[in-house]
Amino acid sequence: MRWIVMGAGLGAALTALGCAVQPQADGKALFHDYCAGCHGDDGRGDGPAALGLARKPADLTTIAARNGGTFPRVKVMSWIDGFTRAGKHGGQVMPIFDPLLSGPNVLVDTGNGVVTPTPVQLVALADYVEGLQRPK
Ligand code: HEC
Repeated sequence: MRWIVMGAGLGAALTALGCAVQPQADGKALFHDYCAGCHGDDGRGDGPAALGLARKPADLTTIAARNGGTFPRVKVMSWIDGFTRAGKHGGQVMPIFDPLLSGPNVLVDTGNGVVTPTPVQLVALADYVEGLQRPK
């Protein structure tokens, strides 16, 4: 009985804190399920499905190095959700992943002080890809 009361108290405290209960997603698992087939588990662009593609999957470990040392998080997220590549050369080779765009949103600072509700799975993937970066 005491535990139930304590549990309820803790739940209420977390709810009161609001942002303490941010939704979470596992970027590594998502990458493995949706991306590794083409980009490879280590992100270098040599997944088993890469062979049959009209365009070689990008090496995702050098995105920061190719961008003056800064990881372009927002650009990467909009590449994954298909927004920035619509109609671009090569942009059609990589599919758009509708399931990644569903589910809960988190607030992301997209620069210039603009905070945008962004699908939590997209954020987790971008964070995971950022963690794969290595010097060129
Ligand atoms: C069907 C194969 C395929 C799958 C699956 C795939 N991609 Fe790609 N991706 C590509 C290809 C091909 C390119 C290069 C397109 C080009 O250069 O025009 C690319 C490019 C990218 C880029 C741009 C990299 C750069 O250098 O600017 C990012 C970021 C990216 N992919 C992330 C992902 C993520 C994250 C996933 C999983 C959600 C994923 N991709 C799944 C084929 C794929």
